[in-house]
Amino acid sequence: METLLKKLQNAHDSQELESIRIEALGKKGIITQKFSELRNLEGEEKKNFAQKLNEIKQNFETIYHAKKIDLKTLELKASLEKEKIDPTLFQSRTHRSIGHPISYTKDRIIDYFMQLGYELCIGPLVEDDFHNFAALNLPEYHPARDMQDTFYFKDLMLLRTHTSPVQIRTMQSQTPPIKMICPGPTFRRDYDLTHTPMFHQVEGLVVDNDNKASFANLKYTLEDFLKYMFGDVKVRFRSSFFPFTEPSAEVDISCVFCKGNGCRVCSNTGWLEVLGCGVVDEYVFEAVGYKNVSGYAFGMGIERLAMLTCNVNDLRSFFETDLRVLEQF
Ligand code: DAH
Repeated sequence: METLLKKLQNAHDSQELESIRIEALGKKGIITQKFSELRNLEGEEKKNFAQKLNEIKQNFETIYHAKKIDLKTLELKASLEKEKIDPTLFQSRTHRSIGHPISYTKDRIIDYFMQLGYELCIGPLVEDDFHNFAALNLPEYHPARDMQDTFYFKDLMLLRTHTSPVQIRTMQSQTPPIKMICPGPTFRRDYDLTHTPMFHQVEGLVVDNDNKASFANLKYTLEDFLKYMFGDVKVRFRSSFFPFTEPSAEVDISCVFCKGNGCRVCSNTGWLEVLGCGVVDEYVFEAVGYKNVSGYAFGMGIERLAMLTCNVNDLRSFFETDLRVLEQF
């Protein structure tokens, strides 16, 4: 018995400890076998022997449990030492990604305008007719409403077809000067290679007292923005029409794929249309009760910019959550 206790005390690890326990208390263990000798004894002798055996067993177990805790603590310490990780080690198979191209592009646009002091605004996705159309100079009978295939609810409520209603909401809740951008989802009933029923736009609006916000400011800002987004591209303003701006323009950049020489993506024109803009129409200011102010606005599709910067040709792949596509960015 003495040797067993000595062995216990000198055990080096849990495994050795366990084998000593089995040697003592296992089915054929030394102590277990001693217990079976009890059946050959009787009376006082049996009682004394049983008592002695129980003491020995208890003594063994006390030392065993204390030793077990000691060894476990030591082993845990040793394994923590050994398994220490070095977070600076290079792991070549880790996927580093820019995130989803839509969020990446949206964040880049926001970064640019916020550095110029634009405020980030949001508006509801379920809009009313006034904010989405009427206040933007698109009355009920206006043909431009046909361009926007709208998801309608009851009572002239609808899913906003563009982010322009946030212009109206911002002007209603603030006073000039205003300098805001609004990124967010928009909805139209459309689905093909270049259209999805849900897509994203970024709206921009600048309003100042008197004549401070001019078309020249707008032109400078957008040209600089497009160079920030696309690098060394040419930018051109093409006269266009939007009911809420006068004059209005569409903005093109020289094709990022063929450098303006003409290719399939730019339909051999050398130019890619990237956004719409203009000087805020007097009618819009009237709708929100503004007087003696000037302003300009612009709107762009985030998917369109993401397709051009990330070189994606099927818009739908942005929304199919296929990791093989997303891992490429
Ligand atoms: N709302 C327009 C659209 O969805 C985009 C747009 C064009 C917004 C010109 C503007 C703007 O603020 O000035 O097609």
